[in-house]
Amino acid sequence: MTDIWARKSTELLTREASGAGEGSGRPLRRTLTALHLVALGVGATIGAGIFVLTGHAAAASAGPAVVLSFALGAIACAFAGLCYAEMASTVPISGSAYTYAYATLGELIAWIIGWDLILEYAVGAITVAIGWSGYVVSFLRDFGISVPERFASAPLAFDAATHRWSATGAVFNLPAVAIIILISALLVTGIRESARFNNVIVAIKLVVIFLFVFLALPEVTTDNWVTSSNPQGDFIPPNTGTIGVFGWSGVLRGAAVVFFAYIGFDAVSTAAQEAKDPNRDMPIGILGSLAICTVLYIAVGFVLTGIVPFDRLNVPDPIAVGVDAAGIGWLSPLIKLGIIFGLTSVILVLLLGQPRIFRAMAHDGLLPEAAARIHPRFHTPYVATMISGAVVAVFAGILPIGLVGELVSIGTLFAFAVVSIGTLVLRITQPNLHRPFRAPVIWIVAPLGALSSVFLMFGLPIDTWLRLAVWLAIGLAIYFGYGARHSRIALAE
Ligand code: ALA
Repeated sequence: MTDIWARKSTELLTREASGAGEGSGRPLRRTLTALHLVALGVGATIGAGIFVLTGHAAAASAGPAVVLSFALGAIACAFAGLCYAEMASTVPISGSAYTYAYATLGELIAWIIGWDLILEYAVGAITVAIGWSGYVVSFLRDFGISVPERFASAPLAFDAATHRWSATGAVFNLPAVAIIILISALLVTGIRESARFNNVIVAIKLVVIFLFVFLALPEVTTDNWVTSSNPQGDFIPPNTGTIGVFGWSGVLRGAAVVFFAYIGFDAVSTAAQEAKDPNRDMPIGILGSLAICTVLYIAVGFVLTGIVPFDRLNVPDPIAVGVDAAGIGWLSPLIKLGIIFGLTSVILVLLLGQPRIFRAMAHDGLLPEAAARIHPRFHTPYVATMISGAVVAVFAGILPIGLVGELVSIGTLFAFAVVSIGTLVLRITQPNLHRPFRAPVIWIVAPLGALSSVFLMFGLPIDTWLRLAVWLAIGLAIYFGYGARHSRIALAE
């Protein structure tokens, strides 16, 4: 352990809550109650996972048992979430898994996590933007405006069975690109999501889900469980002979895919410094929002696969297909509009987070200084925001949603595993550190957080693992080519 890292680590771990990150001298006010935290979690979480990927997971992997997939995903999140909360309250600056790893596990692991978080934030934004595009196209169609498919879908498709890429004939996904450019521009000029705005969005998302579940519930029948791949109408369709395609391995694959739907609840942990009573309210905030999302997701998964045979759900707007099938088509435009608002706020949160992680990495010398540059008038990290926005826009225009969604899941699960281990390591190396929130039975919770995350990772196809490996290898090459030579630690030696 080098001296400078030890110093910075101690500084991160022991200084008083210092405000909204590095360079801000004002302490944060402790104003958030447990209810605020729950709303924050629900607002940041509900998005493309439930509104889009549920259909994909049901059609390709789990069938009606997608409800079990949601339950499995929630278990991993609960353990890792408690570790996140302890880390967030112990490392008293607003941060992300990158900051926690820097403070506890050293520069190299922190870099790996920071690099990996690009998969959660930037690739997450790509995924949600593609979902957004699907619903916008569907919404416009209700009003007789048809966006040609050539300009509203990905030009590239990947066939997991043959491991082949192919051209779809489309040019690019224009709406997905447009929303990314628009939100990036807003973020450069300093739009921030306020608590009130968040509450409105949360309310819209909940109304959409309640309307759908309650109005469609009477139409649910197990007759819809019968499809060509599930002639007996089993709750868990029989495995086709391919791992991950129905059967229990399909439930696991489905869990890894819909895990995406839970990403964002960890945002609650970043508000640890603003909670009135973190020790009591953080677990309520994290587990409460997780519980609410889990119940809603299971309900939506159950209703959706009960009103439409699951083999018809591999579409960009599965909820819209469900609404039509349930005979409540008149509600369709309203539900789609609610979903579009909900997805917009998730993109905003993800695109807000990414440049701030880059900024923290640039502060530590792991990325060029430009990534930390703040706009003189707007006071936003404009260079990092524009570069990440541009890259995200390009890929949102050309990639298919299933592929990027799986990449986000594996990247985030990896980060969850490292944070869980880091929490335990810190308990051992710094037992006396002040921890406003302590995860209960850490010797059980942290290992289970890591194990359940890795378990879900095993649900993902080998191609996704390979992509993660290639991504991390590129990251290591950049670290040894640049970061290891320019970091604050390297320069101090
Ligand atoms: N959980 C977020 C979503 O489903 C990322 O869109």
